[in-house]
Amino acid sequence: MRRGTIPLFILGFAFLIAAMLSSSMGAAAYTDTQASAGMTLFSQKCQGCHGQNGMNGRAPQLNGRADLLTKYGNAAALYEKIHTTMPRNAPGTLTEEQALDATAMIMSWNGVKADGTALTTANAASVKFDSSTTAAPTTAPTQLPKTGDGMLPFGLAIAGMASIAAAIVLRRRSA
Ligand code: HEC
Repeated sequence: MRRGTIPLFILGFAFLIAAMLSSSMGAAAYTDTQASAGMTLFSQKCQGCHGQNGMNGRAPQLNGRADLLTKYGNAAALYEKIHTTMPRNAPGTLTEEQALDATAMIMSWNGVKADGTALTTANAASVKFDSSTTAAPTTAPTQLPKTGDGMLPFGLAIAGMASIAAAIVLRRRSA
C-alpha cells in the first residue's frame, strides 16, 4: 500500500469530526427570522436607551457581552426580564412574540447560533446558557444574524469527504 494514504484517511476523518463539532457548537432554539424581527423591534423601541446595535447607549450594553447570557442562565429568565421590565419607559407593553424576538436577537448578539427551531415560551426554560452554548462573543459584535453561519461545517464536511476519496483512489492505484 502506498505511503501517504493512511495520513490522508486520518485527515479526512478529522475534517468530518470537526464538521460535526462545529455544527452543533453553541446552537440553541431560535430562528434567524426571530432574531431579525428582534432587530426591527430594537431599532424602534430599545435603541434610544441601549444604543445602536445594543452598544454605547446610556442603558447597559446588550451586544457582545460575555456575562449577559450566563447571568440569566436560560432563555426563559431573559425573556421574563424583557417581557416584564422593558422598554423601561413602558414596561409590560411588549407582546409575547416581541419579547421572544428580542430574546432571540440578544442570543445572536452574544455568540449563540440559531438552530432553526423557534424559541417559544414553552421551550425557553430548556434553552440553557452555559459555557457550551455561549461561545465567547467575537470582538466584532454581530450586527445581524449572518446567513453564512452554516458554511463552516459544510466546508469541513466536503474537505473530509474529499480527503477520504483521495485516499481510496490512491490505494486502488497502488494495489
Ligand atoms: C427608557 C430606556 C430604556 C429602553 C427604551 C429600553 N431599556 Fe432595556 N434597560 C434600560 C436600563 C436603564 C436597564 C438597566 C436596569 C434594569 O436592568 O432594569 C436596562 C436593562 C435591560 C436588560 C438587562 C441587561 C442586563 O445587564 O441584565 C435587557 C435584556 C434589556 N434592557 C432589553 C431591552 C429591550 C429588548 C428593549 C426594547 C424592547 C429595551 N431594553 C428598552 C433602559 C431601557
